[in-house]
Amino acid sequence: MDELVLVRVLHVLGVVLWIGGVAMVTFVLLPTLAKMQSPSEAMAFFQQFRQRFAAQARLSTLVVGISGFYMIYALDIWHRFVQWQYWWMHAMVLIWLFFSVMLFVMEPRGRKQVSVASSSEVSAATFVKIQRKHLLLLVLGLLTIAGAVAGSHGWLISGI
Ligand code: HEM
Repeated sequence: MDELVLVRVLHVLGVVLWIGGVAMVTFVLLPTLAKMQSPSEAMAFFQQFRQRFAAQARLSTLVVGISGFYMIYALDIWHRFVQWQYWWMHAMVLIWLFFSVMLFVMEPRGRKQVSVASSSEVSAATFVKIQRKHLLLLVLGLLTIAGAVAGSHGWLISGI
């Protein structure tokens, strides 16, 4: 049982590092870049930043995924995936899947295409668009965290 507590601690630490990073990008980095004089320089900075952040987020994603599936296996709670009051279990896996595809497939591919992309197409509006996408992911992540903490400590939507 003790090892399950440790796995849970690792799970939450991974989530904090990863979703905390998304919050920082959304509320601090992107608004700052949108205000910079030269959008193409801002984009060059963003691309470097993103590359470093992706490396860290890949590690957190791995920790979160391995610890999450280990808990499902050890607690034998697979049945939750067919019970709607455990919506946050589905949400956790879906968000994890989405980020995994982004970090392990799209980000390395995008890096190869960066040199080809024309920097003249970048404007302040580009950062506003990127910020909106990050905000949506962040809100989904926070809702999932709220549901997961409440649900795993016994606060479930009753009915079924
Ligand atoms: C493959 C992906 C994931 C799996 C398999 C998974 C699985 C789990 C499991 C089995 C639990 C324990 C539930 C319980 O004790 O009743 C849990 C807890 C939790 N998960 Fe995940 N999870 C995953 C991804 C995520 C993601 C992406 C987030 C954040 C957005 C997240 C946030 C949390 C939180 C906050 C808890 C509650 C910890 C606590 O208060 O004890 N998980 N997860």
